Amino acid sequence: MPRLAQNTIDGHITRGKTARNRLRRVDNFLLITEGPLLRRADRAFAGSLVVDLGYGAEPFTTLESAARLRRANPHLPMLGVEIEPERVARAAPYADDLTTFRLGGFNLPLYPGESVRLIRAFNVLRQYDEADVTGAWQTLARSVLPGGLIIEGTSDPFGQIWVANLLRRATAALIVEGLIFSTNFRQGFDPAMFQPVLPKNHIHRMLPGEPIFAFMAAWKQAARATIAHREWGLRQWYAASAHALADQGYAVDTRPKLLRRGYVVWRDPHVLRL
Ligand SMILES: C[S@@+](CC[C@H](N)C(=O)[O-])C[C@H]1O[C@@H](n2cnc3c(N)ncnc32)[C@H](O)[C@@H]1O
Repeated sequence: MPRLAQNTIDGHITRGKTARNRLRRVDNFLLITEGPLLRRADRAFAGSLVVDLGYGAEPFTTLESAARLRRANPHLPMLGVEIEPERVARAAPYADDLTTFRLGGFNLPLYPGESVRLIRAFNVLRQYDEADVTGAWQTLARSVLPGGLIIEGTSDPFGQIWVANLLRRATAALIVEGLIFSTNFRQGFDPAMFQPVLPKNHIHRMLPGEPIFAFMAAWKQAARATIAHREWGLRQWYAASAHALADQGYAVDTRPKLLRRGYVVWRDPHVLRL
């Protein structure tokens, strides 16, 4: 067996709380928007991995995602990475030809020749300091193929609402594309409900003068201005508020296939060098 290309493990153990189907809506978002990435089979991408970083005390979410994402590509290899050894041992019996579990950190435990098309890291960075976020993204990104994606976010305990960063690997840079807000409408609709699940790079930035503060204030105003749409249902109101945000000049994706499923994507790109 070749040796893993890592000497030390980057990161620290955090609480392992997870739940069955907690990340179903993350997978569904990827199936809707990233089909071409999931299916890519050109020379660079053939056999490249999807990584679930920090799957927690039980490997449910990794196994569920493997099954869901294989609807797009039945041959997709899935690697669950955990920094806590007992959680890796607990997952080991669930491994098969296409699904594996390894001990590791932000510097992914890859064998020579392995490559990564997609990393999902949910409810991991929220337990780190804000100052650690950019470095963790950059370390993760170094393992991702150019054109590949990192989706990094925070959810509530059952995944009913979440917010995630969308990070795209370019040749020598990481493009921070923007934010996805997701709800299944079980908790009604109010833009403020997303504030407790903002990812670590935004949660402490709900302050006047910060872009996330201005965006959330604009969304609250947009929701008030479109409240008449509530009569036709929460989904219609949600979509109308997103259109109102777009009218204000925010680069919000107004495709019905996203909005009616509860996804607001706000593109606010900037570049991080690698
Ligand atoms: C709250 S659990 C999240 C479980 C699952 N992703 C979910 O959303 O339900 C966070 C897990 O991330 C793991 N973790 C923290 N830092 C990590 C790192 N740098 N690399 C790999 N795993 C990490 C912790 O050990 C913990 O089990």
